[in-house]
Amino acid sequence: MVELINKKRLGMELTRSELEEFFFGYLKGQVMDYQMSAMLMAICIYGLSDREVFDLVDIFIASGISLDLSSLEATVDKHSTGGVGDKTTLIIGPIVSSCGVKVPKMSGRGLGHTGGTIDKIESIPGFRTDLTIDEFIDQLEHIGFALMSQTEELTPLDKMIYSLRDVTGTVESIPLIAISIMSKKIALGASHILIDIKLGKGALIKTKEEALEISRLMVEIGKKYQKEVRTLITNMDNPLGDMIGNTLEVLEAMETLRGRPSPLMDLCVEISSEMVSMGKNISLADARKRVLQVIENGDAFQQFLWFVEAQGGRLEELTLSETTTDVYASKSGVVKAIDALMMGNLSVHLGAGRLKKEDKIDPLAGIVIHKNVGATVEKGDVLYTVYYSEPLKVELNDEAFTIE
Ligand code: URA
Repeated sequence: MVELINKKRLGMELTRSELEEFFFGYLKGQVMDYQMSAMLMAICIYGLSDREVFDLVDIFIASGISLDLSSLEATVDKHSTGGVGDKTTLIIGPIVSSCGVKVPKMSGRGLGHTGGTIDKIESIPGFRTDLTIDEFIDQLEHIGFALMSQTEELTPLDKMIYSLRDVTGTVESIPLIAISIMSKKIALGASHILIDIKLGKGALIKTKEEALEISRLMVEIGKKYQKEVRTLITNMDNPLGDMIGNTLEVLEAMETLRGRPSPLMDLCVEISSEMVSMGKNISLADARKRVLQVIENGDAFQQFLWFVEAQGGRLEELTLSETTTDVYASKSGVVKAIDALMMGNLSVHLGAGRLKKEDKIDPLAGIVIHKNVGATVEKGDVLYTVYYSEPLKVELNDEAFTIE
């Protein structure tokens, strides 16, 4: 194993059998965490050839089972590379499935400053994310949208390696992110995949070059598995939408599904249109018409209610923290930017996210932004309100806001 680590440390390519030996060895407990950490760091520094990336996608998929969704005709999965306030899954799932395209979705929990869809949806009392595979497929057949948390059965190698990457500074690697996301997408079995590549301060991907490279890799990986993969590169300098935090984001998703116009709505329409275009094999313009129709006529919102009910959620019990504090503008001007990373970190400190994997989150905690990018503010206006349950340990100010 040390020889293989040394080879990568010198920037050399590993053969398929060497990758299999090392990575399957880790799965079986023969390669230790510290050895895998060293390998991952060498990969972060030197990268991987396309051939190594394709081999590792195969290896990750082969570490678990793969679903066969071919009985469901066209299925379109969607993934975001992570950001702050990103509740798009909860909006596009109901929209796209209302248009007659099935949306199988396996999501993760939040870690660090980025939120996770599973934490968000679990803020609805009773909502079950631990669906069995049979329940998942059954719900896809009957409702068209099903959401489950990552199971041990699919790509277990990704689960093990992702937790290690998170604590060893090896998350931000383009080939490792591409392998991690695409192996899960392919194992889940959808015939088409839409990847929303988040780019900016609050995202894992910080430069346009990196975004283009991960897009290229993901499309190439898709081709190997006969999957149509489309990518969108979208901004994550500012938080997405007006609300950050788990219950708050469910409420914002519901408002959007009821038709409230916003930049979040525009992004969801863009993503949904791509998905419907792939699933129905129609033009983007026709797909967009259908998407707007199901939002306007209320079908998408009704679909959200059925989806929540099917997974045991009791929306009528959704509550917010009663303890809130307003934060005021220290000067007048126009809001030019809101630092997504700072707002994401603030939401974690309020209890909406985790600093360590074992931390418990507070579903009621979060932030509501009243003056989003483009708004005119007077000194003393309320910029945002924080919701929390535990005594505040952070100083609240308007530092994340660029007001000019
Ligand atoms: N999301 C994933 O699932 N994996 C990564 O590596 C990064 C984001």
